[in-house]
Amino acid sequence: MNTSRTQFFRAPTTPSGAVRQPVFNPSLLAADFACLKREIRALEQAGAEVLHLDIMDGHFAPNLSFGVPVVEAVRKTTDLPLDVHLMLSNPEDFLVPFRKAGADCLTIHIEAVPDPTRLLDEIHKLGAGAGLAVNPPTDIVVLEPYLELCDLVLTMSVMPGFGGQKFNPVALDKLSWLRKNAPDRVWRSVDGGVNESTIRSCVEAGANLLVMGTAILGHPSYRDRFEFLRDKIASRQ
Ligand code: DX5
Ligand code: ZN
Repeated sequence: MNTSRTQFFRAPTTPSGAVRQPVFNPSLLAADFACLKREIRALEQAGAEVLHLDIMDGHFAPNLSFGVPVVEAVRKTTDLPLDVHLMLSNPEDFLVPFRKAGADCLTIHIEAVPDPTRLLDEIHKLGAGAGLAVNPPTDIVVLEPYLELCDLVLTMSVMPGFGGQKFNPVALDKLSWLRKNAPDRVWRSVDGGVNESTIRSCVEAGANLLVMGTAILGHPSYRDRFEFLRDKIASRQ
């Protein structure tokens, strides 16, 4: 088990204890899968600190993406921490396979597992970070009993299924709620439609882990894109 990779998910701080700047979390869903290695290298060179991998089952989410062999292949290609987002109706069947494939954090949906206590515990026993995701229509307050068991909360700003959807601002109130109610060590992540127009409001609402697919991947220079998006966080308009 690589502890420095899983350590990333234990708290939004550097190994020396400093609070991290909001972290970009590129979603490989928008990558060119024929050139995945090259895509990952380009993201590393742009300064990516973590990668987001979207797993969809065609049931919980109305689309299929990729599964265990692709996570395994990504693991062989990079030492970056892998944040694996399980959009599955039965995540319990896949925790061990994805962990063995190299996932460093496993995020399950509250809509799929209404009492996630046992699975969050199991994820920790597997040595990975544990995340809990919430879809736009679901009240964030339902997560309250489980916050102590989480390393990450993923507020969805689109319905799971596809990249490139429009940002739903309902996620902003949830991020603010998390900033007030979740322990500081819990990552506050946002996923879906995060781009140059929405990134600043996400950060202002409290997001510190920004999942971005189409806002980064598919652009000519990921390094330029990172800089452009960083500037948008800082800009005043
Ligand atoms: C949506 C996925 C997202 C997706 C985001 O179901 O969970 O991670 O890749 O894509 P963008 O950033 O393009 O909205
Ligand atoms: Zn995702």
